[in-house]
Amino acid sequence: MAQTEPAEDPGELPYRRHGIPALGFENYWYPLLLAREVGRRPKAARLLGRDIVLFRDAGKLFALEDRCPHRGVKLSLGACEYRNSGTISCPYHGWVFDGASGRLVAALMDGPDSPITRKVGVRSYPVREHAGMIWLWPGEMAPTALEDDVPEWVGDQNRFFSIPMYTDYRCNWRALVDNWGQDHHAQYVHRSSPELLFQPVLPFALTLEPTVLPGNKGIAFKRSGGMTSAEFPGLGRFPNNEWWRVMKPTGRGNVRGFQESKAHRVYGIRNQSEVWLPGLVVVGRLSGEYALIQWAVPIDAGTTRCFNINNFRRLGRWREMLDRVHYWLWRGWAHDRIFSDQDKVLVEALVPGPERLSRSDVGVIYWRKFAGANARRPDRPAEAARDVA
Ligand code: FES
Ligand SMILES: [Fe+2]
Repeated sequence: MAQTEPAEDPGELPYRRHGIPALGFENYWYPLLLAREVGRRPKAARLLGRDIVLFRDAGKLFALEDRCPHRGVKLSLGACEYRNSGTISCPYHGWVFDGASGRLVAALMDGPDSPITRKVGVRSYPVREHAGMIWLWPGEMAPTALEDDVPEWVGDQNRFFSIPMYTDYRCNWRALVDNWGQDHHAQYVHRSSPELLFQPVLPFALTLEPTVLPGNKGIAFKRSGGMTSAEFPGLGRFPNNEWWRVMKPTGRGNVRGFQESKAHRVYGIRNQSEVWLPGLVVVGRLSGEYALIQWAVPIDAGTTRCFNINNFRRLGRWREMLDRVHYWLWRGWAHDRIFSDQDKVLVEALVPGPERLSRSDVGVIYWRKFAGANARRPDRPAEAARDVA
């Protein structure tokens, strides 16, 4: 029987030409878990399709490949049996691995003189705790400083504090970052979210000017122009007469003053929203007292961890308490749940296949070109901006 070529995965089509991999750009730091989720008891996780076990011992944090090379059992089912040794023991035949190097230091059922000891090992991953989160480097390249990949105000404990949370989406990470690429869905989709329900629908059909950020970290989107309502022939007006939209706009889309805003001075954010490599969006508020990161963390090809890092400026003890209460009573619910879930439903409903892009997709196209051309890779470690126009 004649062999046939496997059919091309239609979900790959829009990304293949830009070189954006299904499992994510591997040579970056990623937030993976909340710090409190990892203790002495081994914790299983997955990142960029790799199964990883994390544990703490002797005051240190370790991350190893989650598969025992002996007969393949998951190390995460094992235990840190020898306290303060920085090791983890496989639950099947007691092979014991060093957390830092991944080397086999003992094979308990093979005896203390086992010749296999120190001859085999598992992969160990660079891992850090920072700002209440566990960060992991899944790549083959030597890790960069964590600070190269994370905005400096995350973890600057003297000036800011963070409230991180995450939700797992059943979609590929690329769909989530495209969703953040200023594709003009927000005015349509989120107009019914609690945050925007009483505000006029934001201008749509905006002009979008993407600019590359210094250090080639990502893109800032400057928005201007647009209309807040229009007549569509044969249909009528959009938006319809919605009398309850009585509030004033909050300043979203107010790009004229952004470079002079506190958000720019405090957080260094340009033009309200920026999309960074390897796949995160940074959103500032004009007040300069709050900024949000949403990070698309590829778990595997069909799962993405949407990591929300809510960041607040420290403005005294009482204000911090108020900010935390406000987050738990309002923002955490209104944004991190309701608003984000409106996106979740849609990106999980994407059916892979060819796309017909329109003029509102300028940001998406620009992001894809930028990401494919600029992501850190072994053959491309330089940070010089590449022309993606
Ligand atoms: S499978 Fe791990 S020790 Fe045997
Ligand atoms: Fe959205």
